[in-house]
Amino acid sequence: MKKFISYIFIALLFMACNEKTFEVKVYNKGVNIVPLPVSLNLQEGVFKLNKKTKLVVNGDGAKTVADFFQSKVSYSTGFQLNMVESATKNFISMNVDASSGLADEAYTLKVTPETVKIVASTNRGLFYGMQTLLQLLPAEIESPTLVSEINWNIPAVTIEDEPRFKWRGMMLDVCRHFYPVDFVKKQIDVLAMYKINKLHIHLTDDQGWRIEIKKYPKLTEIGSKRIDEGKEHGGFYTQDQIKEIVAYAAERYIDVIPEIELPGHALAALTAYPEYSCSGGPFKVRNVWGVEADIYCAGKEETFEFIENIIDEVVTLFPSEYFHIGGDEAPKDKWKECNLCQARIKAEGLKDEHELQSYFVQRVEKMLLAHNKKMIGWDEILEGGLAESASIMSWRGEKGGITAASEGHDVVMTPGNWVYLDHYQGDPKVEPVAIGGYTTLEESYEYEPIPEALDKDKAKHILGTQGNVWSEYMYTPELLEYRVYPRIIALAEVGWTQSEKKDFSSFVKRMDNQFVRLDQHNINYHIPQPEGPINNIAITDGTTLEFTTTRPIDMYYTLDGTEPGLNSTKYSTPISVDNTTTVKIRTALVSGKMGKVRTINVVKQEPVKAVKVIAKNSGLKLKIAEGEFYSTKEIARINKWEEKVAEEYKATNKLFDYKNPGVGIFEGYLDIPEDGIYQFSSDMDELYVGGTLLINNDGEVKRHSRNDASIALKKGLQPIKMVYINNVYGGWPQAWNGIRINYKNVNDEKFTELKPEDFLY
Ligand code: ACM
Ligand code: ZN
Repeated sequence: MKKFISYIFIALLFMACNEKTFEVKVYNKGVNIVPLPVSLNLQEGVFKLNKKTKLVVNGDGAKTVADFFQSKVSYSTGFQLNMVESATKNFISMNVDASSGLADEAYTLKVTPETVKIVASTNRGLFYGMQTLLQLLPAEIESPTLVSEINWNIPAVTIEDEPRFKWRGMMLDVCRHFYPVDFVKKQIDVLAMYKINKLHIHLTDDQGWRIEIKKYPKLTEIGSKRIDEGKEHGGFYTQDQIKEIVAYAAERYIDVIPEIELPGHALAALTAYPEYSCSGGPFKVRNVWGVEADIYCAGKEETFEFIENIIDEVVTLFPSEYFHIGGDEAPKDKWKECNLCQARIKAEGLKDEHELQSYFVQRVEKMLLAHNKKMIGWDEILEGGLAESASIMSWRGEKGGITAASEGHDVVMTPGNWVYLDHYQGDPKVEPVAIGGYTTLEESYEYEPIPEALDKDKAKHILGTQGNVWSEYMYTPELLEYRVYPRIIALAEVGWTQSEKKDFSSFVKRMDNQFVRLDQHNINYHIPQPEGPINNIAITDGTTLEFTTTRPIDMYYTLDGTEPGLNSTKYSTPISVDNTTTVKIRTALVSGKMGKVRTINVVKQEPVKAVKVIAKNSGLKLKIAEGEFYSTKEIARINKWEEKVAEEYKATNKLFDYKNPGVGIFEGYLDIPEDGIYQFSSDMDELYVGGTLLINNDGEVKRHSRNDASIALKKGLQPIKMVYINNVYGGWPQAWNGIRINYKNVNDEKFTELKPEDFLY
């Protein structure tokens, strides 16, 4: 009875306070700010944000930031917070105080159970303080819709904060694939949450011109379109859309830096205006990845007029201090053959084509200086002499950055090994096809922008770092997000947080909370997948399947073909399988969100008997047909084949020029040395072994052999058939692979690459 009365008492107390206490979700426990602030002191108690909380605002700048906060929290909390000039309790004050002595991007944030006070000397600093305040609230604060059954509590803390570097950026390539305005804005929203302040937008390249230039309409009419697998890929931003993006970013304190590439990566422009190339064209907008040989002609005065007119329009759209001119990967072959370029070299007393590139860049530098713009370019602009006022982005490792900074030029460090977000972030056998490279979240996080080899007094020239998002293999917006997140957030901490405070395990723990914020923005971030076993495994007795992940994360699996969930068996030790079984396995974040399901088909097999044939000649039989095909399903309609023998690669030259599309079917025998289980790996469209379709890459971009499979084989001759479609699929020419087939006994460590001469027919 006594107990009952005390329950009633507690219930009444709750009703009196008109406030319920909800369980705090595990990912909302503790303080999870990313990037980590300079100093953070946690105190007792919480500030309770409720509908009566006031926003105390002084000055117009503070009002913009307060408006942002008021609007953001209104969606998730439903509160319409009142803005007032002063209050005594239950208020959040936002104050821009130029006399506060705080640096440009710095802020202080003090939370007590009664008040929240943010002070900065600039609106930008206040915006960052406001973002930190949002991160002190439960992750659901980012929800676009009302969230009930949650307490909007802010832990009492004192935070002093400012960034380590002033350039904390991301580069977005909208040329290889085009992304709509709303998608760009969505990324800006999220980048701003992590105090990223530069969006470098790569607007022109061989594969597309993506910005309207009124003086040269063909740049977008012609230069924005290319043909992929027989269909048009296009898109560009009108000048109004560019202004919209720039303004949206500015409201979130992100400067947008345009990149107009020169003298190379210019084929889209030259397709529209071939008169500015050395040869005069005609050209087609490039639909394969890689680097185009045709570049702007440096011998023609008209080229410089063309570029100057473009710059004149572009600078009016981007208020940013910097203007990026590209400068990377400009092959010099066309300049070597061009009389006008050679005449220019002579007339200007230049040593070679590298100095001609410097001459080119220096002329552009003058155009930019006339508009008060600082020129920045990729590290190739160092070759042949760096323009006096230029800054560089060091992408081919750290060397270019060290050289430029040592000479007193400003540098943004973007070395591929850490900040190229187009790299794989997990096992290429498991991850969607990427350009290559391998950079885990931890590797991005551990990046140190100030190179050890740089003299200490030159470190001030390192402006910061940025993640580079090259979009060749980002065929959809979802795939782009999958590559970018969460690595860009690791780089945000690299750019903001003092190096001695960085700690990957703390970062990963804080990310458990950040992932829920990303969920509110519907961001398709990467979740590590179970790695190790391939998808199609042959067994004769039994096997154990050992799974790993790129960072510690729980895995759940089933063996009965059903979808694994959080109640399925949790993976702890390798899984033993001794019969035909479908293993389904997936990872789970602390929030309960699960990764993609991996399905592993284990098949118990009788070894395939060897065939009894006499095959003494080395090589493969080959059938070739010409024509454009994009799927093995289309091959049935071919009725005319040319037959020959492929004794070595050169016998099949015709198949290795992507401009002559066709199909090749190779057939022969492989002499299997001993009974066993053999794993095959191939980028062929189809691979048949022992009469079975073992690898089927139909409908995939054929790179990095993603569909390895094993099969039990008896010693002796086993028939092999390979279907090879010479096409360009997803920007990758199959011809660049050649015949690529590797195999090994499953007990061996290494694969053997098979050449045509390793087969018999
Ligand atoms: C680059 O990645 N070509 C700058
Ligand atoms: Zn030329």
